[in-house]
Amino acid sequence: MEDLLNSIEQKVKPLIGLGKVADYIPALANVDPNQFGIAIYSNDGKLYHAGQAYTDFSIQSISKVFSLTLAIKHYGEDMWKRVGREPSGNPFNSLVQLEYEAGVPRNPFINAGALVISDMNQSRFASPHYAMREFIRRLADNPHLNSEHIVASSEYEFRARNASMAYLMKAFGNFENDVEDVLHSYFDNCAMRMNCVDLAKAFSFLANKGFSQLSGEQVLSARETTQVNGLLATSGLYDEAGNFAYRVGLPGKSGVGGGILAIVPNRFSVCVWSPELNKSGNSLAGMAALEALSESIGWSVF
Ligand code: DON
Repeated sequence: MEDLLNSIEQKVKPLIGLGKVADYIPALANVDPNQFGIAIYSNDGKLYHAGQAYTDFSIQSISKVFSLTLAIKHYGEDMWKRVGREPSGNPFNSLVQLEYEAGVPRNPFINAGALVISDMNQSRFASPHYAMREFIRRLADNPHLNSEHIVASSEYEFRARNASMAYLMKAFGNFENDVEDVLHSYFDNCAMRMNCVDLAKAFSFLANKGFSQLSGEQVLSARETTQVNGLLATSGLYDEAGNFAYRVGLPGKSGVGGGILAIVPNRFSVCVWSPELNKSGNSLAGMAALEALSESIGWSVF
């Protein structure tokens, strides 16, 4: 497997230079674009990696999968009164559907949906970010994981768009807590720094019927796990979910830090990272690497 991963790294590295590092906040704009890492964790506990698989990066929207998992554990089916399960076909930070769909976001992975989920977790935990960080540390089996303050505070400074979504949802009665408090928790979660190995391990429960071998807990039921994977396959890559299904064919979740998580149900969890993004805000070399990997191994679920 590692020979394959090394050859994929060589194949996709020339793509670096064709994308653009996230630049909406200085803390992300300054990342060295010339980086690539990949890690695969198998259900029988084997780890394979290549490139900079141990280099930490900002997980950004990949954190939305942890938030959703925490919310499902507590709210179950009730949560779907407040957020939908359909792809949006729009960019991750779009506001357009929110007004004519009465403040109910299309799915938990676009920013509006993730903010509603963060609002649910805010109602439930006294310190929502610390609850989330504890959860992530346990799942990744890494007690050193932390949020990067400079990223979270700079996201808060440039919060206008996310704040608009949250206040609009508040106006529609779909937001319980103080908007600014929820924004802080949401940004603290997005600013978690992890590497490909941490993420592949932390999300291994999604490949393993909801059971995490690292923390020894049944994180979600087997049924809930297939449901989350279904949502990841249809909405995890936003307005590029169709392209991801076509090219890679796996449930996945991207972040503007350049990470992409992919799940091979009942077999592997995979994380790839390269900071340059395509027009939809998804890692350009990361997508290409997952496509090559999926094609070589015949991983597509479709
Ligand atoms: O709220 C935001 O816009 C960022 N903190 C996260 C966006 C993101 O990662 C979108 N994914 N590709």
